[in-house]
Amino acid sequence: MDPFRLPRAVVPSRYDIRLEPDLTTLTFRGEETIAVSVAEPVREIVLNAVELAVDEAVVVDARGREQWATVGLDEASERCQLAFAEPLAVGAGRLRLVFRGTLNDKLRGFYRSVYKDPSGVSRTMAATQFEATDARRAFPCWDEPAFKAIFSVTLAIDPALTAVSNTRIVSKTRDGARKVARFADSIVMSTYLVAIVVGELEHTEPTLVGATPVSIWCVPGKRRLAAFGQEIAVASLRYFEDYYGLAYPGDKLDLLAIPDFAAGAMENLGAITFRETALLVDEQAASHAELQRIADVVAHENAHMWFGDLVTMSWWNGIWLNEAFATFMEMLAVDAWKPEWQRWVAFGVSRAAALSVDGLHSTRPIEFPVRAPREADAMFDVLTYEKGASVLRMLEQYLGAEVFRAGVREYLTRHRFANADTGDLWAALGRASQQPIPAVMDGWIFAPGYPVVSVSVEGGELVLRQQRFTYLAEPLRWFGATAAPAAAPARWQVPVRLRLAAGGRETVERVLLAEPETRRPLPAGFESVVANEGGHGFYRVRYDEALRERLLSRLPSLGAIERFNLVNDAWAVTAAGLMPITQYLDLTARFRDERDKNVWSVLIGSLHTLNRLVTPADRPKLEALVRDRAAPALAALGWTPQPGEDELTRQLRGDLIRALGTLGNDRAVQARAAELYAGHERGAAPVDPNVLPALIAVLAHAGDEGRYHEFFERFRTATTPQEEQRYLYALTAFPKPALVEQTLARTINGEIRTQDAPFVARSMLMAVHSREQAWDFVKKHWDTMDRLYPKHGLRRMAEGVVGLATPELEADVHRFFHERKIDLGGKTLEQYLEQLRVAVALREREGAALSAYLARF
Ligand code: BES
Ligand code: ZN
Repeated sequence: MDPFRLPRAVVPSRYDIRLEPDLTTLTFRGEETIAVSVAEPVREIVLNAVELAVDEAVVVDARGREQWATVGLDEASERCQLAFAEPLAVGAGRLRLVFRGTLNDKLRGFYRSVYKDPSGVSRTMAATQFEATDARRAFPCWDEPAFKAIFSVTLAIDPALTAVSNTRIVSKTRDGARKVARFADSIVMSTYLVAIVVGELEHTEPTLVGATPVSIWCVPGKRRLAAFGQEIAVASLRYFEDYYGLAYPGDKLDLLAIPDFAAGAMENLGAITFRETALLVDEQAASHAELQRIADVVAHENAHMWFGDLVTMSWWNGIWLNEAFATFMEMLAVDAWKPEWQRWVAFGVSRAAALSVDGLHSTRPIEFPVRAPREADAMFDVLTYEKGASVLRMLEQYLGAEVFRAGVREYLTRHRFANADTGDLWAALGRASQQPIPAVMDGWIFAPGYPVVSVSVEGGELVLRQQRFTYLAEPLRWFGATAAPAAAPARWQVPVRLRLAAGGRETVERVLLAEPETRRPLPAGFESVVANEGGHGFYRVRYDEALRERLLSRLPSLGAIERFNLVNDAWAVTAAGLMPITQYLDLTARFRDERDKNVWSVLIGSLHTLNRLVTPADRPKLEALVRDRAAPALAALGWTPQPGEDELTRQLRGDLIRALGTLGNDRAVQARAAELYAGHERGAAPVDPNVLPALIAVLAHAGDEGRYHEFFERFRTATTPQEEQRYLYALTAFPKPALVEQTLARTINGEIRTQDAPFVARSMLMAVHSREQAWDFVKKHWDTMDRLYPKHGLRRMAEGVVGLATPELEADVHRFFHERKIDLGGKTLEQYLEQLRVAVALREREGAALSAYLARF
């Protein structure tokens, strides 16, 4: 028997739950009646509960016999065992439970969130976050995604407060001093999708999408920041109803901004919860990046209303069906809403993040066995989201968008109100496309890694070869290394699209590369070839030197995503030791005329990585190289927006200023930034919102105590979530050790919310000026952080060790995790250590060559 799966002798079909949260004592009382179906005459009912006290449990079985249970609670297995004297009659029964719990501060289960109202007074609200396995902390339940049931929620609350749950309120009554709101029955759904929010809440005027009212909710005083979120909520809901060909499955749609929120957002049906930065924004004062973030998150959660909520994976191994699909649909919806944002080009950044982790020996297949809850938690990673979405995009492009959509519609219609597996999706897509989907897709979903396709001209032929791409030749040896990494096929079915230029004409050819090697004759008058035309493939391309040179000499003929991939793949191949660093640095010099922000982000990202590898003596030369590459682009754009200029160009200007002023340590840029910032603050000359965040970062980078205190105050008194974020992260960038120490102290002293503190610590581990201090701090306060932060916090923070790229620090990182026997869930730690090894290996291999190259700057 699997200790992590509940027995199926008794299963629920409906929960009538009444909860009474008390925001002054920070506790709640609850009672529930669960309609169950008894399949075998058992004397025990087993369900999930944790950190709850169960005061009463009584069952009425199909014969009408009432029995009181002896209640056993096992915190370790998170279960509640109800033992009865006599066997239960087979058939329909009713289970009634009375229980109590506390509104915790760990941002999971039923928890409290604390914020300041407009007059500065501290206020408390209550909210829930259940995915993956925390519904059991709010009410005893069959807390597995396949036990779908109807939920009928009643909340008895302080009359001064407002309550929101998944559905509309059907009745409002009084019960003594409390007001009682009863909510309509939900659709048949999984426990992890139930939501309850109670507090002093404001909401916007609803917009109707068909019959569905859509509103934004927030704490008092923030409603003015809701318009943009509401706009994309409405637009994406319309888009999805059309795309899926199915009506929205709820009776209303509320989107709620919660001041303390562990994840970015959560797709509770009809009551989507968000952290404030992911929903609330002053559109006029926000950068493109900040706006895109909100559009993404809102569209993503809305996509889940069907993919995840209406049709749900049977078990957590299939979480990619939820998250990869929502990520893919998020792109489609945002792209349809604002085509000028070129969302699929920006998706290159996400794909690159997945390619980077999936190039490790310690990667895992997208779909992977899961047993314990902590293993389920570890599944929410870049492989589930970004690799998953990438392979879906590759498949969509391969089958054609219409055929793909037809398959998706059929899948959703067939499995609505139920659960499904990857095989069900393949079957539906197979019926729609008349193609053998598993043959093409299983290598991408069930095997780890991906291929690098080498492209060369040999003997008048174009030769394509595939082999698995890994950064290191051998798996990392470390204390926790598993015996043998999952065996991967060295071969995938790779849908390759080639764009051949020959005799002044361009043609596109599609090849399904299934063999290790294929050859084709070169067309007459051959000029150049782009493999991965359009950039949708989840693989890397390694051109031979001559072919790469041909592409570099005609960069304007490549699409933005193709240029992105050219740089990104060259950089990966360099990190893997297959291309000399000097060649890569020469390549970066060919992009001075580049004007796409995503291409710049990969260029700048690689220079950030190098900055972690160079010796202190070489650092000023690397700064000079950064200026050499990026300054011409900023000079061409100028510091102020030109009339008619698009949003992406404005964002690029901000990105270049930030890179030059920080990584490039450009004194002139720093001086100009200070001037512009002062003018903006005086109200004399407002700065473009895409540039302002960069100015703040640059000033912090060059800032002293005075500036630090100024920025800390701005963080404390910020009037939008975005402003708060800009100043918060600026606090990590001040170079003085005493200021580094202050910011570190603030990650555990309550001045920075626990939802943000792990990310602040992570960025300090990654940055050269602070990494040693941050690492000492983290080692010293690990247990405190573990106690304070929400459950994904440590895992996110620990990713920062990837920045500790010196041999000495690397050894110390190994020692620490070994001695402390730290497990971050799944393969997380192993992946961080391997990424660290890749960086240190690059340093060891190329350090001398890099130093020689930099000597000319
Ligand atoms: N279902 C997730 C939220 C979640 C994540 C719950 C991890 C439990 C564990 C939600 O749909 C989601 O994916 N949120 C993302 C934002 C999204 C735009 C990628 C998040 O929280 O980062
Ligand atoms: Zn999601």
